[in-house]
Amino acid sequence: MRISVVGCGYLGAVHAACMAELGHDVVGIDVDEHKVAELSAGRPPFFEPGLPEVLARGVASGRLRFTSDMAEAAGARVHFVAVGTPQTAGSHAADLRYVDAAVTGLLPHLGDGDLVVGKSTVPVGTAARLADLVRDSSPADLAWNPEFLREGFAVADTLSPDRFVYGVRPGPEGDRATGLLDEVYATPLTSGMPRIVTDYATAELVKVSANAFLATKISFINAMAEIAEATGADVTQLADAIGHDARIGRRFLNAGLGFGGGCLPKDIRAFQARADELGLDSLAFLADVDAVNLRRRQRVVDLAGELVGTVEGAQVAVLGVAFKPDSDDVRDSPALDVARSLHEQGALVTVFDPEATETARRVAPELRYAADVDEALTGADVVLVLTEWAQFRALDPASVAGLVRGRRIVDGRNVLDASTWRAAGFEFRGLGRP
Ligand code: UGA
Repeated sequence: MRISVVGCGYLGAVHAACMAELGHDVVGIDVDEHKVAELSAGRPPFFEPGLPEVLARGVASGRLRFTSDMAEAAGARVHFVAVGTPQTAGSHAADLRYVDAAVTGLLPHLGDGDLVVGKSTVPVGTAARLADLVRDSSPADLAWNPEFLREGFAVADTLSPDRFVYGVRPGPEGDRATGLLDEVYATPLTSGMPRIVTDYATAELVKVSANAFLATKISFINAMAEIAEATGADVTQLADAIGHDARIGRRFLNAGLGFGGGCLPKDIRAFQARADELGLDSLAFLADVDAVNLRRRQRVVDLAGELVGTVEGAQVAVLGVAFKPDSDDVRDSPALDVARSLHEQGALVTVFDPEATETARRVAPELRYAADVDEALTGADVVLVLTEWAQFRALDPASVAGLVRGRRIVDGRNVLDASTWRAAGFEFRGLGRP
């Protein structure tokens, strides 16, 4: 099938490449000429394991191309909209200008029977509004098909997601839209992937409520970490113990520096803003989810201060600035936030991250960036592990001791074994652990 994908950021570039991998003929469209040039050469403009291979295969096969010309969407039957919905400056609401521009830009190029498919995360009510626009101004229809991919696992999550959700119009038009999406996803559907066909509002809500639930789960365990810190309990053992209850589950119960990235923080804020617009208090608790999450960052800054006495003039080695491992994304990164706060308080912060140095340098040029772990550790008064890259989990206390000036370490992700580090002479602090 011929497919267009409008927006070639994280979501769109992965989606376009994966649709070509499924055998479709795909054109990816983006206003950013540099991004288009990189993708056309088979180079992803961000770090994502597995994407370079899929992208290169698609481009080499001739089934995948990229352009900045919206007119090239003409002739495709399904048009995915995968542009960003960032937080609006000065408010918590989602900024819909890119989604609106993408749909409006597509209108003149839509043919009879085409389907516009929204993938972006939007406030409930957006799809119905855009569906009316598409129907009134073109011969096409619209469906909403939210995306659940995780950075670091984006290719696998796109090719074999946990479920497909289609939000469609009721009646025969919706059946037609469902048929087209089934054709697009024929390969994963044959392996028994669950598929939920529903209305627009439910489809939009599935996405934001999934992210709100995940954020709540993380903040729940981080709230337990605060209680553990006040009582001498160990939150990691607590998580293991409650996680054995299948109704609770152990995944996403890792206490630490909390959630960041381009999705969870802005999505819970936009969801609350939408509930406010609807005159509902139902999501008031998400303000606490957000607050617990942000308090963990301050906690790490405080722990570093406690260990060195005064932060001003202290040499701080920050290991990890990406918002999570296997990513070069520093959007709303808890690690970068901590590094910047310490810098603002007069610490001499040296950062090392295996992949996110360049993205971090662009937004935080005031920090020092080391070329490798050893350089970051050399002469440090305190070491902060803020993103749980495999390389940091495997750090050897004896070698670290040989490089630092002071044997002090904060494990912001609860991935190091406290007793091993203490045995090597380190003052060790975790989050929610004695
Ligand atoms: C998240 C969702 O997991 C995806 O399902 C969703 O599609 C995506 O947002 C999106 O809306 O596009 P992602 O932002 O890639 O995916 O990251 P996650 O793996 O969810 O991690 C989010 C943050 O939570 C990270 O900073 C991570 O370090 C933190 N986290 C995660 C914890 O602090 N503890 C945990 O137990 C798990």
